[in-house]
Amino acid sequence: IPVDPFDLIVFGGTGDLAERKLLPALYRRQCAGQFQEPTRIVGASRAKMSDAEYRKFAEQAISEHVDKNEIDKDQLKTFLERLSYVVVNAVSGEGFDTLKKHIGDSKTIRAFYLAVAPALFGDISKHLKEVGLVTPTSRIVMEKPIGRDLTTAKELNDHVAKVFSEQQIFRIDHYLGKETVQNLMALRFANALYEPLWNSAHIDHVQITVAETVGLEDRITYYDKAGALRDMVQNHMLQLLCLVAMEAPSSMEADALRDEKLKVLRSLTRINGKDAAKTTVRGQYRAGASSNGPVKGYLEELGSKESNTETFVAIKAEIANWRWAGVPFYLRTGKRMATRVSEIVIEFKPIPHSIFEDSAGNIAANQLVIRLQPDEGVKQWIMIKDPGPGGMRLRHVSLDMSFAESFQGRNPDAYERLIMDMIRGNQSLFMRRDEVEAAWQWIDPILGAWEDSHQEVQGYTAGTWGPSSSIALIERDGRTWHES
Ligand code: BG6
Repeated sequence: IPVDPFDLIVFGGTGDLAERKLLPALYRRQCAGQFQEPTRIVGASRAKMSDAEYRKFAEQAISEHVDKNEIDKDQLKTFLERLSYVVVNAVSGEGFDTLKKHIGDSKTIRAFYLAVAPALFGDISKHLKEVGLVTPTSRIVMEKPIGRDLTTAKELNDHVAKVFSEQQIFRIDHYLGKETVQNLMALRFANALYEPLWNSAHIDHVQITVAETVGLEDRITYYDKAGALRDMVQNHMLQLLCLVAMEAPSSMEADALRDEKLKVLRSLTRINGKDAAKTTVRGQYRAGASSNGPVKGYLEELGSKESNTETFVAIKAEIANWRWAGVPFYLRTGKRMATRVSEIVIEFKPIPHSIFEDSAGNIAANQLVIRLQPDEGVKQWIMIKDPGPGGMRLRHVSLDMSFAESFQGRNPDAYERLIMDMIRGNQSLFMRRDEVEAAWQWIDPILGAWEDSHQEVQGYTAGTWGPSSSIALIERDGRTWHES
């Protein structure tokens, strides 16, 4: 379904995010027939560039980041014609007048995308207001990191709130745009099967793993100051946890959904002081191997002898409410791990009594495994009888649903969905201010505890599942990490 015509102004239009994600996503939406005239996309950044040069830049980005078989000459031509470019200086405000003239009095939807460092969010909002570019229906899109702790997150939110109301602010967590993440809601709330079991009476524990094989990827300055807890847990992992743990919202309406997520964040048990040593693990990769051969350690990639930044984190989280009391949520995420996999494992409680004598003790608990990426799918592990006359032998097998097999065609990139939702004004898949701040409220004490206790990072060999203490974290409770 086409969206209403819009003007999208991308600050940081020549940056990495625009090149790798935004321009390819927009091109694909063009091909899907979602744009109506007179839709325009304006790159804005410090680099001196003409419209023609920006179109070249976009063409190059699309040829590098979009599959060849998706390139359609006519569509690409139409798409490039929508593009133009304005030189702006986000700090001094130079060029914002030109931007204003460029946009003119257009009455179409106006969206500002901040694909720039968060330090510039406040300045850009201010300049936009000063030149009169902000209309009551304008939207602004913010990318993470939204702060590096609660205080800085509040400051950032305050700056932007001086110019835009909460209904105009779209905070992106690209995990929410992933098809399989949205599928979590379908699985829970479009089926009668799971919800009655979705609580501490029937679920033993939950595991959320987001493992990457990549290392620092030229993001040294940002990453070394952030670390895995800020980079992945504060946003993506907690959002996943919320979608698993929240109560059924009354509708898919943005605030209905976000109210429920917020309640989960506020129910998370605080981890502080000495608890952190027992319930969190920090790791940093050492030299090792990936599927493409040997890889350097974090410190060598960084070119420094010292850094206590974690590239891996495991946490035993708990949610103090009626539904989840006593059900641990084990979270782990890391760079340079054995394989790239993101998945959620719901492990149900064991059966209360076995009638199968030979198999007593061999009856594995039911597991629901939701594979977010790659090889997206859902597996329900159950016990069945091994066929054959040799008695009642039982086996753990999975009922599989693979997205690739069940649905033909490409899985759209998260940004395609999110940008179009933003143009439609649908905030369901965007984070509200109080959510972001509640997430920091839980993260801050962990950061504090690490700092106070000087909790050092533990080395792990690149290409493995992280430090051995992460295995100990879960095995101490008589459980094991699910093997992907
Ligand atoms: C980003 C993090 O938000 O998410 C990166 O900053 C990480 O460090 C990335 O690599 C992972 O996203 P995806 O979509 O590849 O799972």
